[in-house]
Amino acid sequence: MPPPIGFVSTREDAAARVAYLFSETVLSVQPNLKAAPVVGFQHALDRMVHDNVRGIVAERGTLPSVYSVRYNADPFLTAVEELGKTTFLSITAASSTLSAAITHLAKLAKFPVVVHVSMSRDFADFSEITCLRHLGFTLIQSFSLREAQDLAIASHLLAIRTGKGVIHFFHQPEGEETPIPFEDFNQIDKIFDRNALVNRGTEGSRVANKVYWNGAADVVAEKPAMEEAAEEKANGKQANGNVDLTTVNYNTAGLFQATEAVFDLMRAAVGRTYKAFDYHGAGNAETALLILGSSAQNFITTIGHAGWGDIYSKVGVITVRVYRPWSAEKLLAVIPRSVKRLGVLEQVHRQTTKWGPVLLDVISSLNNDLSIAAAIPVVVGYQLGYLDSKTIHKALRGIIQNIQSETPIQNLLVGGRASHDVDPEYHLTQPELETAYSKMLYNIFGDRLSILNALDRDNTGIPQTITSNPEYGFGTYLAKEERKKELMSKLQVAINENAFTNQETNDLVSRWLLLNSEDSSKLSEVGAKVISKLESDRSEIASELLNDKALILGTSSWIIGSDAWSYDLGTSGVHNVIASGKNVNVLIIDSQPYTGRSAEDSSRRKKDIGLYAMNYSNSYVASIAVYSSYTQALQAFIEADKFTGPSIITAYLPYNEETDSALTVLQETKKAVDSGYWPLYRWDPRPDESGLPNFQLDSQALKKELKNFLERENHLSQVARRVPVFDENVAGSYGSKLRMQQRKKAKDAYSKLLEGLTGPPLTILFASDGGTAENLAKRLQRRAKGRGLGAVVMAMDDFPVEDLGAEENLVIVTSTAGQGEFPQNGRNFWDAVKSSADLDLTSVKYAVFGLGDSHYWPRKQDKVYYNKPSKDLYHRLEILGAKRMVELGLGNSQDPDGYQTAYPVWETELWKALGVDGIGAAVDEPPPLTNEDIKIQSNYLRGTLIEGLNDESTGAISASDSQVAKFHGAYLQDDRDIREQRKASGLEPAYFFMIRVRMPAGVSTPAQWLAIDQIADDKGNHTFKITTRGTFQLHGVIKKKLKPAIKAINVALLDTIAACGDANRNLLCAGVPYNNALHKELAAYARGISEHLLPTMTAYHEIWLTDDNDEKKLVAGNAVVDFEPLYGAAYLPRKLKIAIAVPPYNEVDIFAHDVGLIAIVDDGGKLTGFNVVAGGGMGTTHNDKTTYPRTGSILGYVKKEDVVVVCEKVMLVQRDNGDRKDRKHARLQYTIDYMGLDVFRQKVEELLGFKFEEARAFRFESNIDQFGWVKDERGLNHFTMFVENGRIEDTPEFRMKTGLREIALAMKAGAEFRLTGNQHVILSNIAEEDMPEVKRLLAEYKIDNLQYSGLRLSSSACVAFPTCGVAMAESERYLPIFISKLESYLEELGLRHDSVVMRMTGCPNGCTRPWLAEIAMVGKAYGVYNLMLGGGYVGQRLNKLYRSAVNEEQALQLLKPLFKRWALEREEGEHFGDFLIRAGVIKPTLDGKNFHDDIAEEDEE
Ligand SMILES: Cc1cc2nc3c(=O)[nH]c(=O)nc-3n(C[C@H](O)[C@H](O)[C@H](O)COP(=O)(O)O)c2cc1C
Ligand code: SF4
Repeated sequence: MPPPIGFVSTREDAAARVAYLFSETVLSVQPNLKAAPVVGFQHALDRMVHDNVRGIVAERGTLPSVYSVRYNADPFLTAVEELGKTTFLSITAASSTLSAAITHLAKLAKFPVVVHVSMSRDFADFSEITCLRHLGFTLIQSFSLREAQDLAIASHLLAIRTGKGVIHFFHQPEGEETPIPFEDFNQIDKIFDRNALVNRGTEGSRVANKVYWNGAADVVAEKPAMEEAAEEKANGKQANGNVDLTTVNYNTAGLFQATEAVFDLMRAAVGRTYKAFDYHGAGNAETALLILGSSAQNFITTIGHAGWGDIYSKVGVITVRVYRPWSAEKLLAVIPRSVKRLGVLEQVHRQTTKWGPVLLDVISSLNNDLSIAAAIPVVVGYQLGYLDSKTIHKALRGIIQNIQSETPIQNLLVGGRASHDVDPEYHLTQPELETAYSKMLYNIFGDRLSILNALDRDNTGIPQTITSNPEYGFGTYLAKEERKKELMSKLQVAINENAFTNQETNDLVSRWLLLNSEDSSKLSEVGAKVISKLESDRSEIASELLNDKALILGTSSWIIGSDAWSYDLGTSGVHNVIASGKNVNVLIIDSQPYTGRSAEDSSRRKKDIGLYAMNYSNSYVASIAVYSSYTQALQAFIEADKFTGPSIITAYLPYNEETDSALTVLQETKKAVDSGYWPLYRWDPRPDESGLPNFQLDSQALKKELKNFLERENHLSQVARRVPVFDENVAGSYGSKLRMQQRKKAKDAYSKLLEGLTGPPLTILFASDGGTAENLAKRLQRRAKGRGLGAVVMAMDDFPVEDLGAEENLVIVTSTAGQGEFPQNGRNFWDAVKSSADLDLTSVKYAVFGLGDSHYWPRKQDKVYYNKPSKDLYHRLEILGAKRMVELGLGNSQDPDGYQTAYPVWETELWKALGVDGIGAAVDEPPPLTNEDIKIQSNYLRGTLIEGLNDESTGAISASDSQVAKFHGAYLQDDRDIREQRKASGLEPAYFFMIRVRMPAGVSTPAQWLAIDQIADDKGNHTFKITTRGTFQLHGVIKKKLKPAIKAINVALLDTIAACGDANRNLLCAGVPYNNALHKELAAYARGISEHLLPTMTAYHEIWLTDDNDEKKLVAGNAVVDFEPLYGAAYLPRKLKIAIAVPPYNEVDIFAHDVGLIAIVDDGGKLTGFNVVAGGGMGTTHNDKTTYPRTGSILGYVKKEDVVVVCEKVMLVQRDNGDRKDRKHARLQYTIDYMGLDVFRQKVEELLGFKFEEARAFRFESNIDQFGWVKDERGLNHFTMFVENGRIEDTPEFRMKTGLREIALAMKAGAEFRLTGNQHVILSNIAEEDMPEVKRLLAEYKIDNLQYSGLRLSSSACVAFPTCGVAMAESERYLPIFISKLESYLEELGLRHDSVVMRMTGCPNGCTRPWLAEIAMVGKAYGVYNLMLGGGYVGQRLNKLYRSAVNEEQALQLLKPLFKRWALEREEGEHFGDFLIRAGVIKPTLDGKNFHDDIAEEDEE
């Protein structure tokens, strides 16, 4: 019977009406009619819509909208989408729809959304509510029709005032209740002023935690509840008392306080009091029952009627109104002091954890107050089954008997399991602790759940050891996948042949097939329909297909295992699952209690599977703890199931024994989570809006490793930038590349492993920085396999030390790095071996070969560094009990054949020891690939660059392609600052490219400058460098951006051809700012020579300048073989560098290049020709005295018109005579010394057909730049500016890059930039009238500053760290600091303005020509340099080693007294280098060949 007009008679109607009034939009979720055949809220909503009832919060003039959405149409997703349009949203739903929507609900909780939930009518399952307890909603329960109306209003007020979600739930009894009038508007008006609503509307309604309510009094009342940050914001209240547009984030305590405040308001309006907990019963009760369930009222009534002597006369009942936030304080307050026993009755149908959620809440609450905890020693949990009023007595008696017994049973089921099952007997159903998680999975996925490594079902008969390993589960998955493929093709055939009798079946099956790759929950929805259609389809094929029901439904596939799997991660099946990328979920349960964990862990290093998986960037990863947050665990399971790809969930369940008490498990979990030892998080590798993987921290503290990982991930995406802003492309592309790459690697590693397991095992571990030891180890493996051994090889650090004891034969090959240190990829291994006391190697046989250099650190006291790692390891293994197979082998770079002198002897001994010396000597060993091979095989510099660039599996390209790429101007590098960190987390180095531009004579138009500036921003690391070859160099260009960058450079009418590689490099030419005509002519020669010696390289165009849709890739056509008339297919033995100088200035360092052209100008200032210098070169190798720098030798004079052909012929002689066997000796400098200068000159002259003339006289004054303004012969102005070490960048203090961009924009036609060989810039051709503007900009950006010390102005440094791959020490980042440390001292000596040429490099390759400086520091190891002194000021004389291997302090101590002597003793105009020689401090190096002679510090043997 319907209620009278103006009345409601069901709780659902009452709540629905309130929802309508307090919302702009109501979403009514239509229940699953099978589960709940009731219309629910809909009826009342329909009426209000029909009657055009105006709402309270809807904007004036609009009516609230009501939408109904079906329960299986992802209704809560609709709600999330609605947030973008609606501020005040409510949802009415049946409780059965909630748990599937948990991920959406997590979002809704942050907005003022109210969800009115009606529990299932007959036998409600309150776990549908308790599973939401960690989402952040306030959860309010109402117990009567009246209460439903009041608390519905309260819920909306609370949501509006806090900006957060509220769930209002109640049990709707069968049938009608006594009707009550509609809600009273007068009462509502008393407590709710709709004019106080703020900040609503479309804009910003997506902002979480916003303030929507401007009831100033309330805000003040709640102020203590706000979190600090919010408080600060709230302080931004405006003078009129309005809160300014802001957000407030309530913490739990604050939310609870706000809830109570709203209850207070309700009392003021309606006169009824509501509290978080109610107690019913005697004040002297000794037993209290806290009940969450639909029969609570029955219990209260029964107890209320108890007489004296009844077993439950001293029993009280507690009900929960505010379930979240849970207030321990309020709960304890309602329990009478007399209570000694507390029963907790929970109506949860599917109890997954051993203890019910409310019991856990109660236990932790009691623990809050130890005096109360002591007073109530007995706390017993019960599962509340179905009870009706008739059986309640019996049930109550059972409950009390149990709780009063000596040893009460936990977890008794009281009542029937279903509504028809009214048997009041109680059952013992105690879920095992262990099964908590698998039960949860079953509850979530039901029939869809497939536990791949389950022991039951068809797996019987297979030993447990197999089924309990992940490989087994993975195998099952693969088999299943095969079967699914078969099924799909069957279905496809059936559709094609129209085999179904019913067209609808056909349609559904097609839909199912289309869906297939999508998430499994959707699949199951459609799958269920397919099955029901198939069942009614009478075709033959249909009944056949029904055999595969499970496959059609789509499964959620899980492998469940223990943390034991994390000990051998690298080789375990977990690793295979991750690497496979398959849609398999892995659940790993860690049961080790937090307390006492370290004792057990010390010997075995357990790896963090979650972190490991995150590094792969292809897996969903979560860390959960069911006794900390059930909801979070639930969310993780649902998300893992939805994620297409591997999911790895690590789950915490700490216990020592099954009988551990609830409190112990709770406390252990709490400690682990709170300390950050077991953080709760969820990680979705798919990038979110910010381009980063989605990381959701669900607990407070994070352990260090995880924090580091996350910080690194941030860093990673910023690698290519100096300004810390996220770059989506960088982050995104790294993710996908890594994923692919890791997969490939994992597979390779695995197959290699299998391949190797044939003969007796031999494990070869190497540590190597430069690759020598690595190559040797790999060669050893090949040779071992040739002898039938099952040999595997890997870097030391990739080997789990804890497995070392299981090895049979172990061989270590390690080189020596730093000062007697292990190379980078052996350090962790060594640390572990060194420090683990209980590593038992008694069954291991071992051999060690070391590579070192006995002269690397020549001083006597440094002899200990020689081959130190191999020696240390050799002894350590012995101490750990390993049996030596052969004596330690020591390879020494100083031996006649380097390490190859000692190695063969050692290897022969090794074969003997292994008993394979007689076997298969003829090992087929490919000769090592040399640079010469690479060039020749590259098909005119194509290599496999195109394929390499398209390979997204790695940020790098192959080693041989890297050689080829150099000819194209691109150089593979990585960020060495983070190399180690990345390695530690299993990532490849952060690869990127350096690009060098070919720009003969270093002349750049303003437009070209702007283009480079832009490319650095868009595609590089936001800086660029002026190089010592007077050109631009860009850094940090990731592979994906390489082609666009090179294209853009070409668009700017520049290119990168042969900017690196074995060909003629960029033509360096003096800047000559004072003589325009001369500069013009020289620059034209520079361009002419460059063009003439340019490789034709059609590959360049093909690779970089084509579009993706260019049909023909090979410009010359596949059939036509390229032709390099000057170079041939092998190009030059090494690079060739040519420079042009104009006396009296030698800023290009003319004697440092393979070919130097000294311009000879007649008295009229006209260029006549050049003195040609050849054989200069700076590249050397530390401690290899066959290498040395060399100053160029003068060949003679040629007329200017012959200069191009002269360069060509010099190059050809070098091409045909240079050493192609040993790259260290391949430069022209060695060719000339080897041939003799005269023979060389003669060969060139033969090719020329004429002879060099006698060299003309010339004189150099300096080899530094002439800074400042100068006017040329036409009256145009030129400004040489100081660019420290050539780096163009913006720093907060000095915005040089911006300044120069402004200037480039302001420059008029004809003006240009000239880049100098000392890495500085000349602003050229500035007309008089443009001077004010240029000067203004120079001043504004402080670029005109030349007030530096003479030392700084004369200094230069190469790039070195972090990008140069061969750098041994810092250079560009360090020289400025080092100079600062000298400057104040120089000032004291009065030497501030004296020019001293000082150069630094990170290695002996000599990029900034250190060997010609008066002072040089050449990197030897990190923080250690060789100090060179005595170079000639004008670049005419090499310096010499003064002290090897000095650190900063030593260098300063050595230099200071020498400066002092110079200041006191120098002759007029005498330069520092010359003085040191005159004073006998250092011997002059007059010829490269004497570079290593007469050094002040001899080897102390
Ligand atoms: C930066 C650096 C530091 C070195 N320090 C030592 C040393 O302290 N003791 C030693 O015996 N050899 C030292 N060497 C020599 C190397 O061990 C030797 O060159 C070896 O062949 C390099 O092998 P790799 O390419 O596998 O790294 C050093 C080499 C370099 C480049
Ligand atoms: S000198 Fe060495 S460290 Fe410096 S940039 Fe050149 S190769 Fe790198």
